[in-house]
Amino acid sequence: MKSYGAAILVLLVLSLAAAGHGALQYGFYKGKCGTKDVEAIITGIVRQRFFGDTKIVAALLRMQFHDCFVRGCDASILLDGPSTEKTAPPNFSVFGYDLIDKIKAAVELACPGVVSCADIIIAATRDAVALAGGLRYQVQLGRRDGLISQAGDSLRNLPAPTITVPQSIQTFRAKGLSTSDMVLLLGGHTVGITRCSVIKDRLYNFRGTGKPDPTLNPNFLQLLRSFACPKIGGDNNMVFLDDPSSSLKVDNSFYKQLLQNKGILPIDQALALDPATKRIVQQLAANPTQFLTQFNQALVKLGAVQVLTGTQGQIRKNCRRRN
Ligand code: HEM
Repeated sequence: MKSYGAAILVLLVLSLAAAGHGALQYGFYKGKCGTKDVEAIITGIVRQRFFGDTKIVAALLRMQFHDCFVRGCDASILLDGPSTEKTAPPNFSVFGYDLIDKIKAAVELACPGVVSCADIIIAATRDAVALAGGLRYQVQLGRRDGLISQAGDSLRNLPAPTITVPQSIQTFRAKGLSTSDMVLLLGGHTVGITRCSVIKDRLYNFRGTGKPDPTLNPNFLQLLRSFACPKIGGDNNMVFLDDPSSSLKVDNSFYKQLLQNKGILPIDQALALDPATKRIVQQLAANPTQFLTQFNQALVKLGAVQVLTGTQGQIRKNCRRRN
């Protein structure tokens, strides 16, 4: 009898804890917005934007990463203000905030105060990935929005492109993500661009040697030097992170490029050379479907980093401001 009472007590404590912390759930918004389908509203707006501007896929993937790595996936990247995360240099080239505003306005109209900005980032990224050739995946929702956003947190948490593989493994591990998750998530560079200024030292003066990075494929080096990134000027010229013919598509060609020593960012190329990661790169380069499936799983894991749920944080009315 005593142990029966104790079990009830434990259950009671657990359910009270759950009320405070909650958990992410599939179909979280079902029935919370009358008869309206919140996820379908988000998908519709992402589709509309995608068909006019495919760059939105890269924007959302990067936004999810830069949000989740800094105080968790709590939409802290969206807050406006003099020294919030979006003012930190690693976020200067992040865009797509207007799309999030548009989605937020639509879901607020459907059911005010219900859908978090943090969930919008995650669901919109899922939709964008599927539109760009990825597989559609289910996302668990129920995140709440954070109250704090500080530029210094972005500077401390977002890795620089010159990070080494062992350092990057550590950084991802600190967020609960494995080495394979890291290699898969860097596969986000299958879409999108960087600028010439970011890679100039690799092409002309690698680590102060006055020479190019010896790991770069020599023909590719010449191509980059002549067309995308001259020694003088051209700092804002676009450089595709993947093969240009595939750089709007979510696929495994990024890993194939790495195996040919055509990685653009130093950390990308290093994945194919470091003993801790090169086998994973080889496997992903050889198996297109494995990449698509596992990339989604890694995004789901990224989307669960340090989330606020239950009664934590708030549901912002406007993603750019605390209530
Ligand atoms: C060690 C980890 C990472 C480093 C050091 C890194 C670094 C960078 C850098 C330097 C750029 C170019 C930015 C610019 O020129 O303005 C970039 C772009 C990008 N990153 Fe990463 N990244 C990392 C991980 C990730 C992850 C995990 C994702 C998503 C899952 C991601 C998605 C993207 C995308 C999509 C772009 C292209 C953005 C665009 O075209 O606007 N990155 N990244």
